[in-house]
Amino acid sequence: MNTVVKNTDNREEVRRKSMEALTPEIVAHIEACVQDAQPHSHLIGVLHKVQAHFGYLGADQLDAVAQLLQVPTAKVTGVATFYHFFRLEPRGKYVISVCLGTACYVKGAEQVAERLQEELGIQYGETTTDGLFSLEGTRCLGTCGLAPVVMVEDEVFGDMTADQVPALLEKFSKTED
Ligand code: FES
Repeated sequence: MNTVVKNTDNREEVRRKSMEALTPEIVAHIEACVQDAQPHSHLIGVLHKVQAHFGYLGADQLDAVAQLLQVPTAKVTGVATFYHFFRLEPRGKYVISVCLGTACYVKGAEQVAERLQEELGIQYGETTTDGLFSLEGTRCLGTCGLAPVVMVEDEVFGDMTADQVPALLEKFSKTED
């Protein structure tokens, strides 16, 4: 069902709800985009902005973007799910990115990834139930000389082996104690 608001009667209500789901600054940004001849062209940029603030794109945020940008909710959701860089669920405290580039693959990234999935009990794109770790696959991180490479937040761990995975996880789990 198309949920685009076509009339202006409830514009204030839409704005009020959007303010709750977004921030005044993001709402103002979207309202400026709507003045453009092609507001739809701003969709990806707007979603980036929302994710940069909230860390992910929740259903309420996607709905608010659709309403304000006057784009069908289905289209907004479609774009958000199509691009791998958009996250639809809250991320864990630590995002573990496994490089899936060729050099890392050749040097055993798959085994490292399998061990991470086993130890954490999650797959790519998921977050542990305690909210501590999220697991992601990523393109070449530009440190192929250290392959296979795993990144935890901004910290790079090179020459990884599957056997090093438990210690790596413990290092970050410990900071929580
Ligand atoms: S392929 Fe992994 S860092 Fe380049």
